[in-house]
Amino acid sequence: MAIKMDGKALAEKMRREIREETARLSRRPTLAVILVGEDPASQVYVRNKEKDCVECGILSQGYRLPEETSEAQLLELIGVLNDNDLVDGILVQLPLPKHISEQKIIHAIRPDKDVDAFHPFNVGKIVTGEAGFLPCTPAGIMELLKEYQIEIAGKECVVVGRSNIVGKPMALLLLREHGTVTICHSKTAQLTDQTRRADILVSAVGKVGTITGEMVKDGAVVIDVAMNRNAEGKLCGDCLYDEVAAKASYITPVPGGVGPMTRLILMKNTLTAAQAHLDKEKKPQERFAP
Ligand code: GUN
Repeated sequence: MAIKMDGKALAEKMRREIREETARLSRRPTLAVILVGEDPASQVYVRNKEKDCVECGILSQGYRLPEETSEAQLLELIGVLNDNDLVDGILVQLPLPKHISEQKIIHAIRPDKDVDAFHPFNVGKIVTGEAGFLPCTPAGIMELLKEYQIEIAGKECVVVGRSNIVGKPMALLLLREHGTVTICHSKTAQLTDQTRRADILVSAVGKVGTITGEMVKDGAVVIDVAMNRNAEGKLCGDCLYDEVAAKASYITPVPGGVGPMTRLILMKNTLTAAQAHLDKEKKPQERFAP
């Protein structure tokens, strides 16, 4: 039976570390969180992010905008937040209403405030392995793998899902750690043939039952990124948990696995942004110091 990877406990440890770091800064980091419309899941996510901010010593500025908000109005708000030196991070909760281009919005956020690491400038840094913001969910998963001392170098890593938020950056971070990486998606032929090769299997599809026991190699490490509801309305991931856990060596539960880690990486990115902004503020004084 697999060992459960406890994302909640690790996130709690990281929360304490971030709180200690923010307390050392000359001002508190600030995260602006923008929600457009009334999507119930997004409302929960945003509330959780604001709660995390409080617990990490980060100030959150919430902007709840009506569904009818125009793209121009949202761009204007982002412009104001870009220019405000006291705002370290800007997060626009996705998905946005259909009449607003997510791409235009992501491009409008200043890269040094892009704590989601969605801007092409930051995506480029992830590709080349330069230091910068971390993609929240994949970086949270990497922290979990590290905590449980799971070797990545030389391992077969299979990522199911090719989204810009999870699948693609996940593959890049595993590759950075010298995994042999395969990305699978809705058009992959013989998915089971691919997943059964995996030493580390990451599923980020968002469909109950995507990964069954027979799709998993004995002893594999299985990371379930999804947050679905089953027929009884209970939260669950992509994996049929009991049958997958019977074969895996390690598995992330849903809830309590990847989710809490994703949230903490966002806090870490906001801290990183504030540290960079404070450093920049200090520089001119240092230049003129005796
Ligand atoms: N919607 C679902 N996941 C995310 C995320 O990580 N960031 C943002 N901004 N929106 C999301």
